[in-house]
Amino acid sequence: MTSIFSYIFQLVVVSLALGGKASAAPVLAFGDLRGHMEPCGCDPRTDVGGLKRISASLIRYRSEHPNLIVVHSGNLFPKVIKDKTEADGISRSLERLSPDASLINEIEWGLLSSGEKLPNVKWVLSNISDNAKVGDLSQLIRLNGVEIFGYLGRVDKNLRQFDTDLLKKWKAQSKITNIESRVLIFSGSGAELEKIVKSKFFGVIISSNPTKLGIEMGDQEQRDEESLTRRFKNRFLAWSVPYGGGGFLRQGGLELTAPPKTLASSLAATGENKSAAKASITALTSIQPLHWLKLGEENGAPEGVTKIFDDVREANRRKFRLLAEQRVRDLPMSGFIGAEACANCHASSYDSWKKSKHSSAMASLLKRERHEDSGCVECHVVGFTAKGGYVNEQKSPNFSNVQCENCHGPRREHASNPSVSPKVDARASCAECHTPPHSPGFEMKSYWKMIEHK
Ligand code: HEC
Ligand code: HEC
Ligand code: HEC
Ligand code: HEC
Repeated sequence: MTSIFSYIFQLVVVSLALGGKASAAPVLAFGDLRGHMEPCGCDPRTDVGGLKRISASLIRYRSEHPNLIVVHSGNLFPKVIKDKTEADGISRSLERLSPDASLINEIEWGLLSSGEKLPNVKWVLSNISDNAKVGDLSQLIRLNGVEIFGYLGRVDKNLRQFDTDLLKKWKAQSKITNIESRVLIFSGSGAELEKIVKSKFFGVIISSNPTKLGIEMGDQEQRDEESLTRRFKNRFLAWSVPYGGGGFLRQGGLELTAPPKTLASSLAATGENKSAAKASITALTSIQPLHWLKLGEENGAPEGVTKIFDDVREANRRKFRLLAEQRVRDLPMSGFIGAEACANCHASSYDSWKKSKHSSAMASLLKRERHEDSGCVECHVVGFTAKGGYVNEQKSPNFSNVQCENCHGPRREHASNPSVSPKVDARASCAECHTPPHSPGFEMKSYWKMIEHK
């Protein structure tokens, strides 16, 4: 709801900030979504963010702080866009959130370079070569007395590596003298970051990668958490936004909230170096003037954003139903048979499977009304990506849930002739589904203990 009054108010704030010695406007940053509008919820620890919650929180913070500047570190889309539905949903949601500056990160750069259209928001990239032909990008965004630059470590010849020439160019572009009001949204290597930090040109550097800072510091230090923390504290003013839209990083002027507990696990969920992640959090929360802000709940998301989610869900359902019509034809030739057929001969295996959560994996999707979403169903049923496997709850109820044949391979033939055995390493199957984003706590020994059978 933007009335004429809020425009006037904005103008007043801008002139205050530019004119007097007003302290820098507060900046909020949020992080990469990696192609997901919201977390899957497969593990409570991964349930950290999503566009609905970001938008609900932004509405609140913006109303409390009219001069708030919201920046975003890019990498919104999946590395490979297999399916445009969700990517379009992300684009539309981002346009609604309309951050004040968004970094062209690797994924957006890739999309731009291949001629794709980016969402209509204010993109920033300050290290493009002068002769590079890219669309409508800002080299610098100036707002409420703050200057926002963007840096993407060299991925091709159209991007300049940080050096004294680039610094000279930035200095010439800058119109302010207080470095606290110069913000860089950064994506690149630890070495590049270190050089930029040393130039003392930026008061705040927001890195797009949660653990890169730690990971690139050499093995010894990676293991030595404490020295890493110390090193961060003394030498860097660069901090990373939370993974998967898990919260905000904020600078200046806003009320503090304790760092979210889920953050540590959200970093662990990336499957990246855990001690580095932990160290960066410790350092992060102990340094001024940057702090984490937790996301609120998703109710309070504007209707427009909720509608985008509903549209995407509906599109996924339609696609699922179309696919089901095609897949149902393969059912009569199925190599799968379902767990009930094993029960007589493998009673004890069957009993322990029945007691495990695998046997109720579909219930988890039904509860969330995601049972007609291919992106969820594939890991919660038998053979969804194979011919003759799960179709839907009506046509193939015997292939619902995670069953014996997810791990032991199709067994129709074996069930009538036990001497026939597919050569499948059941132990290797876990990794297909228990991937870090969906099962951050997975560890073979303890997980196998929970479902062990003979
Ligand atoms: C790559 C495979 C994979 C995909 C895709 C997947 N899941 Fe899961 N899901 C899992 C695994 C593995 C677990 C068990 C995690 C654990 O306990 O470590 C799980 C567990 C769950 C649970 C149970 C959580 C609980 O509290 O017990 C829910 C709910 C769930 N998933 C929903 C979804 C939804 C919704 C989607 C789609 C957006 C989805 N899953 C997509 C693998 C997947
Ligand atoms: C008619 C009885 C019968 C049925 C039905 C049956 N099996 Fe078996 N299965 C056997 C026998 C007998 C063996 C060999 C036992 C041994 O060597 O220890 C065996 C061995 C196995 C083994 C271990 C060797 C291998 O092939 O990897 C697995 C795993 C197995 N069955 C899974 C299943 C599953 C899953 C089903 C249901 C889809 C099933 N079986 C249905 C009788 C049966
Ligand atoms: C989540 C994966 C998974 C599921 C589901 C599962 N199993 Fe297994 N199963 C395994 C693994 C792993 C082993 C151990 C293999 C090993 O020790 O190398 C095993 C072992 C077995 C064995 C003993 C094989 C041998 O000779 O060592 C049988 C029989 C068996 N499973 C049957 C079943 C039946 C029947 C079901 C369904 C009712 C089932 N399993 C469900 C993964 C699974
Ligand atoms: C086809 C995908 C798939 C495969 C393969 C798979 N799982 Fe799972 N697993 C799931 C899903 C989905 C859930 C969550 C079910 C639910 O609660 O909805 C789950 C849950 C579990 C749980 C319960 C966790 C809890 O918190 O209670 C354990 C333990 C587990 N899996 C172990 C294994 C092991 C060990 C293997 C390999 C031998 C394996 N799984 C293979 C999909 C899979």
